[in-house]
Amino acid sequence: MKKNVVLVGLMGAGKTSVGQELAQKLSYEFWDTDAIIEQTQGVKISEIFKTKGEVFFRELEKATIAKISQEEKKVISTGGGSLEQIENLKNLKKNGLTVYLKASPETLFSRVITETHRPLLQTENPLAKLEELLEKREKNYLLSDIIVLTENKTIDEIANEIIEVFND
Ligand code: S3P
Repeated sequence: MKKNVVLVGLMGAGKTSVGQELAQKLSYEFWDTDAIIEQTQGVKISEIFKTKGEVFFRELEKATIAKISQEEKKVISTGGGSLEQIENLKNLKKNGLTVYLKASPETLFSRVITETHRPLLQTENPLAKLEELLEKREKNYLLSDIIVLTENKTIDEIANEIIEVFND
């Protein structure tokens, strides 16, 4: 069975852009947990947060992860909050190489500043929110199989770094 590659990390870590590049290089499909949830629910994540709340979203996320963890040969991009539930990491590791894309809050902020689709960053001070979330979540991100520092690297360089470990 061929493993999945699973990308974790905070909003702005580059999970989608690196994931798409990796999928192309490996000739794997690219799957994104947020996109799957939006497709199956028929509404945007921001709408789910607004009408049903974050707890409801986390349940959908957990169920989605449990299901896709049984896949093979997929590059999977996870939502930034998915590892708040350690059960999700356990599932993702069953058949996946988990990869933490690490960056400082300042770098993450510079990458998300122009985007408006993330409900948790619609606050007065998104940088402070990113710092708070990183503080809360990083201990679980660091339990990933590999940690890739993404500062000052191109998407191509990051993807190649992951493939080297994956093919090892
Ligand atoms: C979230 C991150 C988002 C999305 C949702 C909540 C989070 O995904 O799942 O808005 O809690 O950090 P990205 O990390 O892909 O932006």
